[in-house]
Amino acid sequence: AAPGGAGRLRGDGVVMSVFVTRRIPAEGLRVLSQASGCRVQQWDSEEPVPRAELLAGVAGTRGLLCLLSDRIDREVLEAAGPGLKVISTLSVGFDHLALDEIKKRGIRVGYTPDVLTDATAELSVALLLSACRRLPEAAEQVKSGGWTTWKPLWMCGYGLSDSTVGIVGLGRIGQAVARRLKPFGVRKFLYTGSGPKPESAAEFGAEFVPLTRLAEESDFVVVTCALTPATQGMCNKDFFSRMKKTSVFVNTSRGAVVNQEDLYNALTQGQIAAAGLDVTTPEPLPTDHPLLSLKNCVILPHIGSATYATRSTMAVLAANNLLAGLRGEPMPHELKL
Ligand code: NDP
Ligand code: DGY
Repeated sequence: AAPGGAGRLRGDGVVMSVFVTRRIPAEGLRVLSQASGCRVQQWDSEEPVPRAELLAGVAGTRGLLCLLSDRIDREVLEAAGPGLKVISTLSVGFDHLALDEIKKRGIRVGYTPDVLTDATAELSVALLLSACRRLPEAAEQVKSGGWTTWKPLWMCGYGLSDSTVGIVGLGRIGQAVARRLKPFGVRKFLYTGSGPKPESAAEFGAEFVPLTRLAEESDFVVVTCALTPATQGMCNKDFFSRMKKTSVFVNTSRGAVVNQEDLYNALTQGQIAAAGLDVTTPEPLPTDHPLLSLKNCVILPHIGSATYATRSTMAVLAANNLLAGLRGEPMPHELKL
């Protein structure tokens, strides 16, 4: 892809030049390329844009459509120059954006809440069940010949019936996870966050508790909070040491919420029974990472929102956020800075 640049339309003002940092679902790109006056430059690859190409690509653009794997910091903003007006991220998470620098420059930000909530909650439940009922380990036994006969004590795990589930961050996805888990016979929901949210919690009769109590009382912990300075490294040695030996830990938020060394120790020392991670630090996780050697840890490659329909809807929303921002109109989903 060639680097972007500002241009002019015949007499009718500045071209809306935008840089798209990856190949995205066609429906989203179509929205941009069919918009009048919009000139699209794209890093047309499945692989991330190299940093140097990103810096060159944003130079002189008015709009940037980026992914959660692009670190949009001061260097990128300076490379873009003062013409950059809108950043639209193809994600609901925005921890990859230097919001203070972005705000200082008066740049507007669009993101993709709601449209991925169901897909991500569904994947969170799938991951929880995979970890607690040992699905990858059991499937491997079928292939390897480990399945010799039906054995009363073999491949047992932990079920949701009559359990206590702790949700770390009862936001959009956290609530959607609780809604899906409730019919499995969960006895009690606990949640934690920056404060009680009685209206959101009422549907599940969920009780607001401090993080320490959530760790101590939950049979299943599901982390669905945003990554912030307050949540970074929050699931650490102290947290895991409070969890029950029979409990299962699931994280579908961001890898950095978890101290992975502490999680590894908790899993190997029997402090917790199992874990399921859709997100890690770094991403991708190196194939020789110690966590990948554990049978009681199921790791997925950040596929929470990965349904065809959801990714397509996200791309269209991200494109419409970008266009609305460039036109000075209200965005379908603008992040309030
Ligand atoms: P929301 O903003 O609706 O929810 C975020 C939640 O984080 C809020 O409920 C908030 O609680 C909570 N939170 C903030 N600070 C803390 C804290 N200190 N302790 C505990 N909880 C806290 O966002 P979504 O539900 O839409 O998305 C959540 C996150 O999920 C995203 O930020 C993203 O990182 C991740 N995600 C991952 C996906 C994947 O593919 N695995 C897909 C989509 C999202 P409160 O309101 O009390 O502040
Ligand atoms: C997000 O949107 O933040 C997810 O991590 C990917 O969909």
